[in-house]
Amino acid sequence: MRAVIFGASGLLGRSVVRAFDDMSVTGTGFSRTVPGLVTLDATSADSIERLLGRDQPDVVVNCVGERRPEVWAGTPAQARGRNIDAARLIAEGARRCGARLLHISSDYVFDGTAAPYRPDSLPNPLNAYGRWKLLAERAVRAACPDAAILRLPVLYGHAQFAAETNLTEIARQVGAGARVELDDVCVRYPTHADEAAEVCRRLAGALLRGQRLGSVAHWSAEQGFTKYQMAVLIAHRFGLSADHIRAGEADAASGERPVDCRLDCQDLPEALGPVRRLFSTEFPPAVEPWLFPAGPVPS
Ligand SMILES: NC(=O)c1ccc[n+]([C@@H]2O[C@H](COP(=O)([O-])OP(=O)(O)OC[C@H]3O[C@@H](n4cnc5c(N)ncnc54)[C@H](OP(=O)(O)O)[C@@H]3O)[C@@H](O)[C@H]2O)c1
Repeated sequence: MRAVIFGASGLLGRSVVRAFDDMSVTGTGFSRTVPGLVTLDATSADSIERLLGRDQPDVVVNCVGERRPEVWAGTPAQARGRNIDAARLIAEGARRCGARLLHISSDYVFDGTAAPYRPDSLPNPLNAYGRWKLLAERAVRAACPDAAILRLPVLYGHAQFAAETNLTEIARQVGAGARVELDDVCVRYPTHADEAAEVCRRLAGALLRGQRLGSVAHWSAEQGFTKYQMAVLIAHRFGLSADHIRAGEADAASGERPVDCRLDCQDLPEALGPVRRLFSTEFPPAVEPWLFPAGPVPS
């Protein structure tokens, strides 16, 4: 079986490439040129067409997205393109080459007022990113009606830099010791990218077997934390002080961050079998390297 993973240089895409190790995989990157990955702009229909025409994959996974708030604010047209145009073009390409498509979306399509959210709950995004992810879902559905859409909450994992994930950035702030205020209102469900990638692998398998699943699926870790609670958890786990961290409400006060988007994901284990939960074992090694100001020591 052949797979093309778009966005394979990113946090989730790197895990998805590892999880698809029983397939012949082509991964793409964009600004991060990594040996073994094809450099490709997913807002270019021609580039997508050429790659899919060459590889003729059985399955395509779209992990392309722009989730950095500074990019949404600074270059919104670019961020919109990376979230919506890329989704539509990849979906059109997958349909044309006859591949099954798995598209990644976000819990930010919901407004956070009525958790838990089922896959058929009514979306009502509060910010531009959530609106783009919802428009991307609709574009995918229109271009490739049998695609599977997987909504995920905030991810963490093997980060390449502290700010790549909320948890590792918070670990850096715990370790740095400088006074900082962290939101203690909005609840997140940090989910390991490897766990999400295992779900992607099983979903792809189900698509390839022709198993009937709902067109939208949810996956999420079970434990919810505010950013402040994540800081306290990290400090306790490593015997550090959290006295320099104050509880605040910056994210909630902006009105642009949902307060609680807990995803109801009970349908997936029923359809795909139990998935190993990674939070308790994998959050400490994921954050530990970032507790020290110099960052991780190269091994
Ligand atoms: N991380 C989270 O907390 C989270 C939560 C829920 C949903 N999601 C969704 O999950 C998906 C993957 O997110 P992630 O966390 O892995 O994001 P990420 O680490 O920022 O990776 C994004 C990927 O998209 C690629 N990309 C960006 N612009 C591109 C373009 N114009 N053409 C081709 N590729 C482009 C990036 O390539 P380069 O890096 O090489 O430029 C990278 O491979 C996204 O749809 C995101 O919205 C993420």
